[in-house]
Amino acid sequence: MSKKWFPPQSDLERGVGGLYITDVTPETVATSSRFTPTSGPETEALVPPIFHSSTYKLKSVDDYLKILEEGGYIYSRLSNFTCQSLQAAINSIEGGKGSLVFSTGMAAISTALLCFLKSGDHIVVNNPCYSGTYDVIMNILPRYGIEYTFVNTGCPVEEYKKHIKANTRMLYGETPCNPNMAILDLEEFGKLGKSLDNVLTMVDSTFASPYLQPVIQHGIDVSMHSCTKYMGGHSDLVAGCLTFSSVDLWKTMLHYQTSLGTTMSPHDASLLLRGIKTLPIRMERHSSNAQKVAEFLEKHPKVERVSYPGLPSHPQHQVAKKQMKMFSGMIAAEIKGGVQGGKILVENVRLVQLAVSLGGVESLIEHPATMTHGPMLMTSEDRQSGGITDGLVRISIGLEDPDDLIKDFQQALDKIPENLVA
Ligand SMILES: Cc1ncc(COP(=O)(O)O)c(C=O)c1O
Repeated sequence: MSKKWFPPQSDLERGVGGLYITDVTPETVATSSRFTPTSGPETEALVPPIFHSSTYKLKSVDDYLKILEEGGYIYSRLSNFTCQSLQAAINSIEGGKGSLVFSTGMAAISTALLCFLKSGDHIVVNNPCYSGTYDVIMNILPRYGIEYTFVNTGCPVEEYKKHIKANTRMLYGETPCNPNMAILDLEEFGKLGKSLDNVLTMVDSTFASPYLQPVIQHGIDVSMHSCTKYMGGHSDLVAGCLTFSSVDLWKTMLHYQTSLGTTMSPHDASLLLRGIKTLPIRMERHSSNAQKVAEFLEKHPKVERVSYPGLPSHPQHQVAKKQMKMFSGMIAAEIKGGVQGGKILVENVRLVQLAVSLGGVESLIEHPATMTHGPMLMTSEDRQSGGITDGLVRISIGLEDPDDLIKDFQQALDKIPENLVA
């Protein structure tokens, strides 16, 4: 190493700004020794650093207003370099006009609903949908005077059209849908939205990831993802994002996000930036694995029905083919023997883990009728009408060897007694 390298010195030791270490006591040294690099040509970190500073040193009071007007960094709830690096990456994958990242997927959804709907407005939503979304729309929005109408998940877009009223301001869809893997035709949905004044379309495409299904190109106004799932991909963070079809929508949302405070932590942003670098190769493997497992389950005598968009038997297979690069890693399978059949399967898999959430490298399984869409949220009539049958299991296929996964499902299905399925 060159003889010109010296130990780093704090700004106080160097007397930056005229304040020297001898001007202050040891207590002040402990709180105030900042470091400003001074020597050599400037370089840039290849991986964006985690800026976990909540606040930023200003050069003058005038800079405060200038930054609010022109952009820059004052306070991390308003803007943060690590989060912005992530927003830029997500927007490029989505092909949008701007992205914003949130503390969770639900933070993204609830902030969007509060931002784009007001008292007296009406929203049309597919049912079933993710249980948290269902809860906000059904139990929280009505307290603020916002009405909803549910249409059946997997219905033709015509159904949404039938329920549009003078006060409808948003059409909301999830595709593939949690938990039953029904598909919404994005092209038709986008066209319907564009044919109406003052009505936004918003799509939660968490189950597909933006790599397999970028929705903005279909004329959708707001694309949503729970980044907790495929975007992060390693089950080690909770996060959400929204991408917009126009800069105006992005700006409107930025105001709401900064005031409601649903911003993402820069630590999670850094983990997510790492995760999305491998999104395409992970999604390809999730999809090819899931295709094999779905084909195995579909032929198994203890399985009543498999819903996977990559199977020709899926009612919207042709629509899925049109709008998804591959069919992702989520499978819904109805196990014979009702609640008991489903429970025996989920409690006896060994490689696949019994856990909620999805989209990570490890395969996970859950039983919606007793867990995510269970009695604390939905009545059995609601579940019936949404096609969440007693024996339905939701599987998130990971990156393991698909033959090992098939062996695991085989041994767990063997544990379901013949008399239960007869
Ligand atoms: C389809 C879908 N949307 C939204 C969410 C909510 O995301 P989060 O748990 O990150 O808040 C989930 C969570 O499971 C989901 O499956």
